[in-house]
Amino acid sequence: MRSYTYDIVVVGAGGAGMEAALNASKDPDLSVAVITKVFPTRSHTGAAQGGMNAALCYRDPEDTIESHIFDTIKGSDYLADQDSVEFFCNGMPDLVRELESMGVPYSRDEQGRVAQRPFGGASHPRCCYAQDKTGHVVLHALFENCLKNNVKFLDEYNLLDLAVDESGIEGLVAIDLRAGEIVMFRAKCVVLATGGFGRVYWTRTTNATNMTGDGVAAAMRVGVPIKDPEMVQFHPTGLASSGTLLSEACRGEGGYLINNQGERFMERYAPDKMELGPRDLVARSIETEIKEGRGFGEGMKSYVMLDMRHLGREKIMERLPQVRDLAIKFEGVDMITDPVPIRPSNHYSMGGIDVVNGRTCATKIPGLFAAGECSNISVHGANRLGGNSVSEVCFFGKQAGIGAAAAAKGRTLGGSQNLEETAAAWQERFDTMRAKSSGKHIYEIRDKMAEAMWNGVGIFREGPAIEEAMRVVDECIEEYKDARIDDTSKVYNNAFMNYVELGNVLTIARAVCLGALERKESRGSHSRGDYPTRDDVNFMKHSLISLEPDGSYSIDWRDVVVTSYQPQERKY
Ligand code: FUM
Repeated sequence: MRSYTYDIVVVGAGGAGMEAALNASKDPDLSVAVITKVFPTRSHTGAAQGGMNAALCYRDPEDTIESHIFDTIKGSDYLADQDSVEFFCNGMPDLVRELESMGVPYSRDEQGRVAQRPFGGASHPRCCYAQDKTGHVVLHALFENCLKNNVKFLDEYNLLDLAVDESGIEGLVAIDLRAGEIVMFRAKCVVLATGGFGRVYWTRTTNATNMTGDGVAAAMRVGVPIKDPEMVQFHPTGLASSGTLLSEACRGEGGYLINNQGERFMERYAPDKMELGPRDLVARSIETEIKEGRGFGEGMKSYVMLDMRHLGREKIMERLPQVRDLAIKFEGVDMITDPVPIRPSNHYSMGGIDVVNGRTCATKIPGLFAAGECSNISVHGANRLGGNSVSEVCFFGKQAGIGAAAAAKGRTLGGSQNLEETAAAWQERFDTMRAKSSGKHIYEIRDKMAEAMWNGVGIFREGPAIEEAMRVVDECIEEYKDARIDDTSKVYNNAFMNYVELGNVLTIARAVCLGALERKESRGSHSRGDYPTRDDVNFMKHSLISLEPDGSYSIDWRDVVVTSYQPQERKY
């Protein structure tokens, strides 16, 4: 079987993965490789349209880093660890300047400085942007700088499992999809940067089809807990028919949300911030309008309108050309002349791999690091602010690269048989699945899971509905054990990859259900009709959900770190 050895292997080539690789590769004595499901510049960070938050205080000299810290903590509904938020917000202005010097072509203000726009839940306009293609240009700049540093990229290599021994991480097993071969990677350190798990909600999400939580599930299988998985963000403005993202920048630039009475209904829910309330609040407001009969359309096809017409052609073409194009292509509507039908769409996983060191992004397994959306460094708590994602991904990706490089110096390569055994087990599974013709088809199982998750663990939740979702997910997990893929090919067996991905989303879906059931309160994105208020006495805590070796799940809790801000009622 083919095998490779590197000092550091990064899994994922989005903003976090490439920041990690770039910073680790600054040490010329270390060999660094990135394995990635897609060509690096096609990674999902490219879908981040609106921008990245940093208190540069250009557009508004009244802004401060302290305001960014407070907005983030308030936005998180007091579930963020305040020390992590402070570290992050303090570091962001320098990181934006560093990215600029690496070639990120930010849009400019009248004085030639990095332009900043208002974004949801922020008290000042601090979202730095490049039109509506911020993530895309960040990816390009990082990729070029990684190539300059001789980072090795292995495209279309998909993570299957991690291997650990008694001293920590030993390496990982992947599939080279193009060759149809199972491949081993031995490494002193592994950085997981595999993105979120939005495809748990397959039916309606802004996430690319490959956002299936591969790193999260692999980490859970080697004993790392997932933290706060119940905290799932629904972006207020997904296109009505596809769920595709229409950036918050639309509202940042002045777009209105309108119901079937022609009202700007956000006045009812967030009279001060209106459309620029935090995402959890705006998403719930839209769904409430629909539930109370003030939406358009029927059932799953219901929607409200995003009205941009008053902004005019010039502003839309200058600031939002991509979202205009998306609305034309996916909804058949030109926002210059017509309002666009929208409805909330699953967008972001606040929960993720439990990181135990917020400076280095280390997990509890020596040599294993995690950064970006797959990780949970407790910066976003129960609700992430728009514009804090590309920021967090780049900031903590960099930290993970520095952390992994330092750790690699002190580690030797593992030499147990675990890596070989894990690889052999995957080879057998690949061969078996290609030959198998009985059992339920994976896509049937996937659709059943997605419907249960949307209905039971969506924007509004209730105990019995969550229990029902959990029951269906358990049934899916059983059916998965005997599933079929109907594809015998060796090379580019995407159906086999979909099978692997389904196993990963099911593993995570079960954790989302358990966290949602056990968190008996409403906080941020987790809104329970049967427990409608926030309960700081019992639940100002992170949930930590572990997958046990026998396949069962257990839950533990960890206190939130509070430094400066005691919880207050959240008003916008
Ligand atoms: O709406 C957006 O442009 C998305 C940005 C984000 O999720 O931070």
